[in-house]
Amino acid sequence: MQGTDLLFSPLVAGRLRLRNRFMRSATAERLCRADGTPGPELAEVARRLAAGGVGLVVMGHTFVRPDGKASVGMSGLWRDDQIPAFAAVAAAAHEHGAAVALQLNHGGRQASPHLTGSELVAPSAVPLEPGSPVPRALSEGEIWQLIDAYAQAARRARDAGFDAVQLHAAHGYLISQFLSPHANRRTDAWGGTVEKRARFLWEVARAVRAVVGNDYPVLIKLGLADFIPGGLTLEEGLQVVGLASSMDLDLLEISGGAGPGNTRSNINKEEQEAYFLPWALAARQRTALPIALVGGIRSLKVMCRVVQSGAVDVISMSRPFIREPGLVQAIASGAQDKARCISCSLCSTRADVPTRCWVE
Ligand SMILES: Cc1cc2nc3c(=O)[nH]c(=O)nc-3n(C[C@H](O)[C@H](O)[C@H](O)COP(=O)(O)O)c2cc1C
Repeated sequence: MQGTDLLFSPLVAGRLRLRNRFMRSATAERLCRADGTPGPELAEVARRLAAGGVGLVVMGHTFVRPDGKASVGMSGLWRDDQIPAFAAVAAAAHEHGAAVALQLNHGGRQASPHLTGSELVAPSAVPLEPGSPVPRALSEGEIWQLIDAYAQAARRARDAGFDAVQLHAAHGYLISQFLSPHANRRTDAWGGTVEKRARFLWEVARAVRAVVGNDYPVLIKLGLADFIPGGLTLEEGLQVVGLASSMDLDLLEISGGAGPGNTRSNINKEEQEAYFLPWALAARQRTALPIALVGGIRSLKVMCRVVQSGAVDVISMSRPFIREPGLVQAIASGAQDKARCISCSLCSTRADVPTRCWVE
């Protein structure tokens, strides 16, 4: 199949059906009330992306418990009475034929104590950087409570009408902290070898599956390396890919970087695009899961090359859709062969206001 035809062809990814190969990678919209409940503005974001032709819209990371909130306006789904507000978001995406997923997260040591009023908790009492706040190490009982919080949030997302949930196992948040030898210095059953560090992810996936049932799609965004001294290495990340193959998941989105390293700036040449493609090629050797790739994908030429590589099934983008929610339609109609996003990343530096493009 020609690259463009492939991009616009439907995909069955495990239990998930997509109308095309374009995914909006989870992007914090910062549009929710202090308790995480969305208002009509969040549904409007979902509607515009779906109307713009995106096949799978992943809504921004959503805290599963109040102490996991990481930024102003972050969504949170931790009470059943929030389900109707989230249902409006899912319905808005469905009105225009897109599948929609909710990304589940807990900040761990990257939560914001100013916003949560709670103490920071993490696998071990290790700060992100020297001078950052020192979290308290979780007890075994607290780990199980957190696993249940992910499962209950997944149940609420399913009941709200989302087509899938995505486990956020990247960018230095709680699951990624358990995977990382920098953040996880535990010597019990939750730390040490890669298998033990992956146990939290494993148990979250198992608890989520038990609650949502056998027919419901569960996706993962996995960071394959941390880019910090003493952090997760690529070889370890690839081992986690192998382990994830037996977690009954439906789509593996590949990312990396504990913190801002996942979002490279000033992508203005084709060679700079799709910066995690070599990792996807390596991951393909370790898993049969459908793979989505995110990170700097901007031009139709590169999109075609990526889906024709044989490793990647879905093209995932974040910043381009902040500037142009209608980008997929613009490509489909032939009006554009490239995103207008200049990857300046100003959208992610102004973390205190609703997410927007500051250039357009
Ligand atoms: C404003 C902003 C918010 C983001 N929020 C999230 C998030 O909630 N969850 C997540 O996994 N990644 C988040 N990311 C990272 C993106 O999903 C993506 O992995 C990264 O920006 C690289 O893709 P891109 O080059 O297409 O922007 C965010 C990025 C930006 C710029």
